[in-house]
Amino acid sequence: MGFLRGITALSNLRSRLGQQTTQLGSLRWLQSQSASDLDLRSQLKDQIPEQQERLKKIKSEYGKVQLGNITVDMVLGGMRGITGLLWEPSLVDPEEGIRLRGLTLPECQKLLPAASPGGEPLAEGLLWLLVTGKVPSKEQAVALSKELQSRSAVPDHVYKGIDSLPVTAHPMTQFVTGVMALQVESEFQKAYEQGMPKSKLWEPAYEDCMNLIARVPAVAAYVYRRLYKDGRAIPADKSLDHAANFSHMLGFDDPKMLESVRLFLLVHSDHEGGNVSGHASHVVASALADPYRAYAAAMNGLAGPLHGLATQEALLWVKSIAKEFGEDVTTEKLKEVVWKTLNSGKVVPGFGHGVLRKTDPRFTCQRKFALKHIPDDPIFQLVLKLQEVVPPILTSLGKVKNPWPNVDILSGVPLNHFGLSEDRYYTVLFGVSRSLGVSAQLIWDRALGLPIERPKSVTLDWLEDYCKKSA
Ligand SMILES: CC(C)(COP(=O)(O)OP(=O)(O)OC[C@H]1O[C@@H](n2cnc3c(N)ncnc32)[C@H](O)[C@@H]1OP(=O)(O)O)[C@@H](O)C(=O)NCCC(=O)NCCS
Repeated sequence: MGFLRGITALSNLRSRLGQQTTQLGSLRWLQSQSASDLDLRSQLKDQIPEQQERLKKIKSEYGKVQLGNITVDMVLGGMRGITGLLWEPSLVDPEEGIRLRGLTLPECQKLLPAASPGGEPLAEGLLWLLVTGKVPSKEQAVALSKELQSRSAVPDHVYKGIDSLPVTAHPMTQFVTGVMALQVESEFQKAYEQGMPKSKLWEPAYEDCMNLIARVPAVAAYVYRRLYKDGRAIPADKSLDHAANFSHMLGFDDPKMLESVRLFLLVHSDHEGGNVSGHASHVVASALADPYRAYAAAMNGLAGPLHGLATQEALLWVKSIAKEFGEDVTTEKLKEVVWKTLNSGKVVPGFGHGVLRKTDPRFTCQRKFALKHIPDDPIFQLVLKLQEVVPPILTSLGKVKNPWPNVDILSGVPLNHFGLSEDRYYTVLFGVSRSLGVSAQLIWDRALGLPIERPKSVTLDWLEDYCKKSA
């Protein structure tokens, strides 16, 4: 026993001595380090300028180097120009703009069933077109309207989920929270867990997509009433079509407002698959995540200011100009404002596009609507002036590929005219519209059994090495 105690005491002493030596060592090492050596953020801050320069150099020296069928420019330029996605509901031509299942927007306005003769298309008819590629009869659109109504009940926990957020949360945050709460009822998730074969998954995808389209207007309207009105939800009116009922639940029943909402849903419904929201939904669903999760991903992308939030930004910007300089602002003053925006490091919202190289036909379509219904609206008049003033300035920067107006500079104007003046809410309206296009594709994703997305990525080291070898 005594011997054992002796051994233990010796080993304890050795370990204490060892610890002290290690501590002394670490202390010396610590003393030799500067504060920034030990701070991750500072390390990063030191590295960033060097890596930025490296990226620029690779772009300028090797941008045209081929990597298989693509170039280094494409890898570093947000995958611009790479055809890499299948997306059925719509196609964007750089010169002509959007076609929904082969139809231009004016053709959709002419051919799709409307609520009243010569009026804007019913969202139900549009959805039928996006899903099937065929123009429906009025009866088919009405039948779909009934189907959506029968699916429209929103479970109470969705509203409770939204209520748990502070009212200061951005409307898109509240909306996406509501969408994720709807996910609890996903038929797709249940079917997958029960082992449904892949070839049949389009059926629960259809169920989820239709339920989602039917329910998001009530969720969106709840967010609006909670934030800007008395907080009481307005019950659905089953005599109304999808778009008109959405407007009604928001609290707007003027027939011209209903037409504005129908047009809004048409022009924002889809814009092929490579835009941030479309692509986000597609990649998430490719992992066989259910349509709610895919749509929520799309909505989080839509909330970015370079994408859907531009609707909010554009309306805020135009209204701030009207407020500061009056609606009769001179062209010279407008030029100054545009330069001030650019010089502050911001983009001019509502102008430019990643794919389009002409004026966005969605802008043209809304311009026509505004000329017909609200020609004297001061904000509309201001947008018309900006349409003249902005493009030459953007062109003079020498780098903007498309200086022309896009959908967002005008999309809030008619709704604003009829009383929906809360700019921060506009991306939610956009999101409700996108439920149509995104869902149409999500059904086809599963119907065609499209595989999980997995493009190849490379590191800067790899790219630099490759370019040097190729050169
Ligand atoms: C839509 C948008 C993101 C497309 O970006 P893109 O594909 O990179 O466009 P380009 O290739 O023409 O961009 C080249 C340069 O011009 C700039 N540019 C493009 N549009 C611009 C605008 N409206 N205002 C200021 N600068 C703009 C880009 O920021 C980029 O600058 P950088 O090289 O210093 O980064 C861009 O036009 C934009 O930010 N527009 C304003 C926001 C908007 O309206 N978004 C909704 C689109 S539907």
